Amino acid sequence: MCGIVGYLGKKNTKEILLDGLKELEYRGYDSAGIAVLQDNQFDSFKAVGKLVNLEEKTKDFVTENFAVGIGHTRWATHGKPTELNAHPHLGDSSYVVHNGIIENYATLKKELMDDGVRFLSQTDTEVIVHQFEKNLKSAENAFEAFAKTIHELKGAYAILLVTKSEDKTIFFAKHGSPMLVGINGENKVSSPEREGSLGYEKYFASSDAPLIGHCSDVNYFEDGDYGYVTADELAIFSKNGDKKKPNFSKLSTNKLSAQKDGYRFFMEKEIYEQSTVIADTLMGRVGDDEILFDEIDSSLFDGIHEIKLSACGTSYHSALSASYLFERYSKIKTSVEVASEFRYRSPVMTKDTLFVVISQSGETADTLETLKMAKEAGLKTLVICNVDNSSMVRLADATILTRAGIEKGVASTKAFATQVAVFWMMSLYLAKLRNSLEANEIARQVSLLREIPTSVKVTDAMHEKIKRLSKRYLHGHGFFFIGRDIFYPLALEGALKLKEISYLHAEGYPSGEMKHGPIALADPELFTIALLPQHLLYEKAKSNVEELSARDSTICAISPIEFDKADDFIQTTVCKDYMLEFFEMMVVVQLFSLEISVRLGNDVDMPRNLAKSVTVE
Ligand code: G6P
Repeated sequence: MCGIVGYLGKKNTKEILLDGLKELEYRGYDSAGIAVLQDNQFDSFKAVGKLVNLEEKTKDFVTENFAVGIGHTRWATHGKPTELNAHPHLGDSSYVVHNGIIENYATLKKELMDDGVRFLSQTDTEVIVHQFEKNLKSAENAFEAFAKTIHELKGAYAILLVTKSEDKTIFFAKHGSPMLVGINGENKVSSPEREGSLGYEKYFASSDAPLIGHCSDVNYFEDGDYGYVTADELAIFSKNGDKKKPNFSKLSTNKLSAQKDGYRFFMEKEIYEQSTVIADTLMGRVGDDEILFDEIDSSLFDGIHEIKLSACGTSYHSALSASYLFERYSKIKTSVEVASEFRYRSPVMTKDTLFVVISQSGETADTLETLKMAKEAGLKTLVICNVDNSSMVRLADATILTRAGIEKGVASTKAFATQVAVFWMMSLYLAKLRNSLEANEIARQVSLLREIPTSVKVTDAMHEKIKRLSKRYLHGHGFFFIGRDIFYPLALEGALKLKEISYLHAEGYPSGEMKHGPIALADPELFTIALLPQHLLYEKAKSNVEELSARDSTICAISPIEFDKADDFIQTTVCKDYMLEFFEMMVVVQLFSLEISVRLGNDVDMPRNLAKSVTVE
């Protein structure tokens, strides 16, 4: 996920910005840049790849006097990771950095281009700086132009903007993406002349880490906040234009915990983050009553009668989920392949098949090889991936990015969640294209999609309950995660999560298959984690669980409907649709694995024998 830093003061601005960006490296990025304004002169540098490349480019650049500067690490979502697409973005005499997604950028861009503005990048961000400069022409001052611009933006953003027209000021805005400003009580820049002003140097960042060691106090902006800082002032306005007082708190000094946003593990942070990242995944793609994928041309599906999905590990499970959605909603024949198997089984590939690879990293060797095979066989190809410019993205005909941001925990969580969200959107996109669902049903599901971020929010009650329950599941001779329909791939994923981080044996099984063999294992030491959604085959799944309960297997049921045959019960929310149940239950099984692993004293983020990206066969 992208990172932002900013600095206003008399210290070495270049070093402060570069050091700040280094503190954000853990978030993942593919390019970086800074812009510094001193004595009404701009210097800006950008580089693709690691920060050393940017350091190399800036090695002769010196900042000694009072300056304002902004910096950014970019994780590509709109446009390739190139220098032109890297931030800060330039207008005529202003620079901007931005995290988030500007949903209405296409409309704004068109209007600006009609006015003769030339765009250099493919990003949504660039519209901000041009829109600001357009507004500047008719505004009394830069702040008025900035405020007007912010009110014209739709979407999520954390923004810093610097401009020659007020060269000792940094403008900021926050809505939906995090940002904070920090001060250090000891480093006064000049005396405050006005009451309530803050005569200190100012630091900005998109998370705590870059400010640790520099700032004593920080103010976390709230959604809708915007304003400006100068040496003497920190002016914050709320969405409706009212001036606000800053709300400073002491900054922690623990960098590692700051990187984890205070969570115990990256995996835990990533589970909690799912609500925000899924909102990013949906942004700009969920229209009023249809799904829009700007990044793909609908002709990709011309002449296609089958979809074949290929992946490994967790991505394979999301592919399996997709097969249920594609057949049910898009009425298109769909098959799913374990990439390592597909490679060597001399598969028949026909050109009316769209070959889709799914990969968090875009580098998994087996999946990549199947993509090459499909290309060689002349098939059209699509990749669902989290990393732009990865090997698969470069190779495939088309790409849909999942926008989950970097995933540090080896056990994948948010990458899976965003993949399934993409597949649900894709099934509706195809349903419209193929006329396989009524328009009002597509519209109904489009509105359900908007509810996913709420469904995956972790509540204290849920987490506490799972924490407490976990102590009963630290032994036994095995776990069965069972579910029907699309809850079967979720059962597989639940079992994989548990295996990966607890080292306990776990299997995912279709509920209806238990009686064909596995039920022989049933006894009190066999733990069954049963997924019992209200809106999909509830009665069928329930009777399968009853069969196990009758054989004295220990049952933990996950359902919105109370189930008295279970030993333990995790109650989920009553909601409108099985897909929302899917997402909530996904969070439950993730937390369940996490808490068991914690109790067993395992390394949650770096489990033994596993690698995040498997680039060998
Ligand atoms: C490795 C990881 C898994 C991941 C799989 C596929 O085995 O440990 O968590 O699901 O690779 O990775 P990909 O990047 O292709 O999704």
